[in-house]
Amino acid sequence: MAIIGQDIKQAAALLKNGEVVAIPTETVYGLAANALDSEAVKLIFTTKERPMTNPLIIHLPSLEAVQDYVTEFPPLAKKLAAVFCPGPLTMVLPKKEIVPDLVTAGLPNVAVRIPNHQLTLELLQTLGFPLAAPSANPFGYISPTTAQHVAKQLGDKIPYILDGGLCQKGLESTIVNFQNDKVIVYRLGAISLEELAEVVGADNLILDNLKLEKPLSPGMLPYHYSPHTSLFLTDDLENDILSFNKEKIGIITLSKVFQNIPKKHQIQLSLNDDLANAGHLLYQAMHQLDALSLEAIFVEKMPDEGIGKTMNDRLKRAAYKR
Ligand code: TXA
Ligand code: MG
Repeated sequence: MAIIGQDIKQAAALLKNGEVVAIPTETVYGLAANALDSEAVKLIFTTKERPMTNPLIIHLPSLEAVQDYVTEFPPLAKKLAAVFCPGPLTMVLPKKEIVPDLVTAGLPNVAVRIPNHQLTLELLQTLGFPLAAPSANPFGYISPTTAQHVAKQLGDKIPYILDGGLCQKGLESTIVNFQNDKVIVYRLGAISLEELAEVVGADNLILDNLKLEKPLSPGMLPYHYSPHTSLFLTDDLENDILSFNKEKIGIITLSKVFQNIPKKHQIQLSLNDDLANAGHLLYQAMHQLDALSLEAIFVEKMPDEGIGKTMNDRLKRAAYKR
């Protein structure tokens, strides 16, 4: 069973030894290994049971370090990085030779990010090599936002989980690419479109990930982020739960309370309707209800703005029936 702790030295020793360690970030926990060691990177894929055609993000301690791994850093990227790094911004840029093909699934671009979490920044500084890290969940399952979530899903497969508490953002990073002086958004994330637009202008933003049926970024599969319990995303919760046994369903709402459903089966994400706070707690709520062996989980559709857009994107994928 994995040790859960805050010992950066122990985590570093394991990583230097080619092992896989779970690390906290401000978005979700990552399953990390030395990005420059293909054998170590391979372990990430086998531990997660993730197809090797799905590329990984590399995590770096500073913006300065990015130059060692990419051949281009366009002006728009600089502009975004100045505002959002360290933070939940992942930039897909042309890679240098030093980045193993296994990390990028053979693509000419590499995804880079500087996570904004004190423990992990310290770890990255002591290591001297970048960490390749996908979210620390088994492929297709909900991403973890606590060390305990990681332990429950992958604890018997990894030696160490660096415990950084509950993730501050609770949703994955926003992934962008740059083409012809435009920002292409591959994945909605913890930075909202509105926040990106404030920096680069709405006219320079192209969103290209919403078509569930046509994934653009490899790995942006229509089904993903799913609990084991069947999940339904609804904009008419009252009506959609009518035919269900109220004792056997779970519900997640922004702030609505339901009198006829057991208290422990319902989670209000933010009683004052604060979407950022709701995003921070969404995955934790899904993990919590998924552990109760209910017949179904109903989630109220979030307002289609700001972080609400990201939450709806994840919930659509979580609700996707194969
Ligand atoms: O917040 C996050 O981004 C977390 C934390 C741990 O940093 N990581 C994360 O990684 O969500 P993952 O592997 O679960 O999702 C990364 C996404 C995948 O959909 C992958 O296809 C895409 O990034 N990606 C990675 N490298 C890419 C590349 N070179 N080109 C296009 N998409 C890429
Ligand atoms: Mg993931």
